[in-house]
Amino acid sequence: MRNVEKNGNGKRICVIGLGYIGLPTASMLAIQGFDVIGVDINKKRVEEIKNLSFKTKEKDLMTLVKGAINSGNLKVQTKPERADVFIICVPTPCIENNGKKKCDLKYLNKAIENIKPYLEDGNLIIIESTIPPGTTDEIYKRLSKDKKIYVAHCPERVLPGNILKELVENDRVIGGVDKKSAEMAKDIYETFVTGKIYLTDAKTAEMVKLMENTYRDVNIALANEFAKIAEEIGINVWEAINLANKHPRVNILKPGPGVGGHCISIDPWFIVEKSSNAKLIKTARELNDSMPLFVVEKIKKIIKKDNGKIAIFGVTYKGNVDDTRESPAEKVAGKLIEDGFEVKCYDSYAREFKYPLSSLDDAVDNADIIVVLAEHDEFKNFDKDDIKHISSKVRSKIILDTKNIINKELWKKEGFKVYVLGDGKNA
Ligand SMILES: NC(=O)c1ccc[n+]([C@@H]2O[C@H](COP(=O)([O-])OP(=O)(O)OC[C@H]3O[C@@H](n4cnc5c(N)ncnc54)[C@H](O)[C@@H]3O)[C@@H](O)[C@H]2O)c1
Repeated sequence: MRNVEKNGNGKRICVIGLGYIGLPTASMLAIQGFDVIGVDINKKRVEEIKNLSFKTKEKDLMTLVKGAINSGNLKVQTKPERADVFIICVPTPCIENNGKKKCDLKYLNKAIENIKPYLEDGNLIIIESTIPPGTTDEIYKRLSKDKKIYVAHCPERVLPGNILKELVENDRVIGGVDKKSAEMAKDIYETFVTGKIYLTDAKTAEMVKLMENTYRDVNIALANEFAKIAEEIGINVWEAINLANKHPRVNILKPGPGVGGHCISIDPWFIVEKSSNAKLIKTARELNDSMPLFVVEKIKKIIKKDNGKIAIFGVTYKGNVDDTRESPAEKVAGKLIEDGFEVKCYDSYAREFKYPLSSLDDAVDNADIIVVLAEHDEFKNFDKDDIKHISSKVRSKIILDTKNIINKELWKKEGFKVYVLGDGKNA
């Protein structure tokens, strides 16, 4: 065993789950001088981290991980070890059971089972994974039968694409099963967090995280509903939102092809599963989930046919990230394929996608329409020559921009008919 007293404040930390959240967290702690064991059950992921061959679009993450490994403070492996603190960053996806959506706790429960043999009196377990209210207390009840342990929930609120900055600068909320647990967790985060750290009880911290994402989801749903209404009554929603936002106390968000990602599109369900009062939250979720099909209907209205070739630009769940989890593009592409269209997807950012990714040329070759589904800078920055090149390949010069990001004038100059989601042109 390594000498745990040699580094920083001499604590050994085991970070379970080395994905988008766990890897930067483990690396950041190692840089602070903690003795960190990063654990992931995925052997391939462990190897990729060890030899720094993992793919990432996250600014400076590779440098941070390299620094952490080279410092000798970050060890990466598939099995946990004895430690003072265990930080759990495993996935908590949504599953559907008898028509009801709920949090799938199987990864979290497995992670807990895996660390159980190593737990000792005085250990602290921090759950960073997003979980339904009451989960931290249940885990504490289960584990404290045998050991005197401390448990806290410290939800992560970083913005993918800007994780390293936000990991350090964001305020954090830490909820303990008791005051001592919260304070012990604060001692860890305060070594690298420059934002404020607020302490509360575990259930409140769990609910705070879910409320943050639900707030975003409900507000996006309102914008999306306005877009649907705009299409119905024949006005341009973007102009209307812009004008409404001139009111000093109004800030309507932007509509789009749906809400994706591992957070906003699923976390509100964790409230719905726990409370029959969550009616607005459920409706908003369903509304956002209906947007991909709304986009498909708009495509059909524009091209006025039920077959042909569609070029999709952008399959990640949002702009300038590589993550395609729960992405609206998956549903848009899936429905178009089901309806008999030929669909080619182009995305130079995406790490992986359910459907094959094509080169730009292959995607636009003989396309009847180009549909922009993600807000990548690449699409915003297409210049005259890029558009001319695309224009020479397509069958019909039609583009539908569901994010309202392209340089419309440039596309129009090349002869394209430009549509935007919510432009009311198909009323
Ligand atoms: N990605 C984000 O931006 C974000 C933001 C805030 C909160 N969260 C929450 O953080 C948690 C983790 O999300 P993520 O995006 O990092 O997920 P991820 O899928 O990128 O990474 C999770 C990792 O955990 C590993 N894993 C699964 N079970 C394991 C086990 N038993 N032991 C060890 N490793 C295991 C997986 O192999 C994977 O590499 C989720 O609850 C998520 O809701 C994510």
